[in-house]
Amino acid sequence: MLSKAELYYFSPTGGTKKAGEIFCKGIAKGVKLVNWGLRDKKAEQPASELSVIALPVFGGRVPAVAIEKLKELDGTGKKAVTLVVYGNRAYEDALLELNNAAEARGFQVVASAALVAQHSIVPKVGKGRPDEQDQASILAFAGKVLDKMEDTAAGEVKVPGNVPYKAEMAVPASPVSLPACKLCGACEAVCPTGAIRQERGTIATNPENCILCMACVAACPEHARILPPPMQEKMDQMLGALEAVRRENEYFL
Ligand SMILES: Cc1cc2nc3c(=O)[nH]c(=O)nc-3n(C[C@H](O)[C@H](O)[C@H](O)COP(=O)(O)O)c2cc1C
Repeated sequence: MLSKAELYYFSPTGGTKKAGEIFCKGIAKGVKLVNWGLRDKKAEQPASELSVIALPVFGGRVPAVAIEKLKELDGTGKKAVTLVVYGNRAYEDALLELNNAAEARGFQVVASAALVAQHSIVPKVGKGRPDEQDQASILAFAGKVLDKMEDTAAGEVKVPGNVPYKAEMAVPASPVSLPACKLCGACEAVCPTGAIRQERGTIATNPENCILCMACVAACPEHARILPPPMQEKMDQMLGALEAVRRENEYFL
């Protein structure tokens, strides 16, 4: 076991954080959590033996807002494990994009994984993931990573993906607030891009900034923040068939 690791994560609805924490439990006695979903927070530079970087997959890529946070780190001489967490569809170029970005900051990527979590737009897809079976396989992977870190002759990590990456996902519409909204400000507080503002007794969402991450929907205590119903129906139709499919985690050492 390592004595300490950092977990850098961007996790609008909690699945990425959960998967990252399972991995960290298997690799280090103490973990420093660094939430990249917080706006205007000063960068916390890696100080421990290992940086674990966990990002969700959005449209087969990793969110640009999280890559901007990664660009603030100096990983020179530091080891990293990279994790992408996806909603049981596909992770496409996300892991390659994350690894390239980490290596560009000087990190040595010692291992990577693509892990499955509940889909944050269509929660019946990947429901309850990561589950007990995932937990056991993620912990077994953590053990192998520890072995690899002791092996000075260990090679580079190769992950799937293509360059140029998939085009960045277009955001067709932003979440909306229902009349049950009590203007508590929870949505505004969690928005990682500052797209939400209270204006004259209503919630205004700037579609230019919204990345559709679902943090505001997950944070609303009144369940009064939703995707526009026609869009939710379309997403349910597009992804619904994946409810019956179980994608497995993939590990790269
Ligand atoms: C805008 C958006 C795009 C997504 N794109 C994909 C995708 O391409 N493939 C996939 O399997 N899951 C996709 N998902 C599901 C998320 O990757 C998955 O639910 C992840 O666990 C979300 O992380 P979080 O729980 O930390 O917010 C997408 C979710 C959102 C909100």
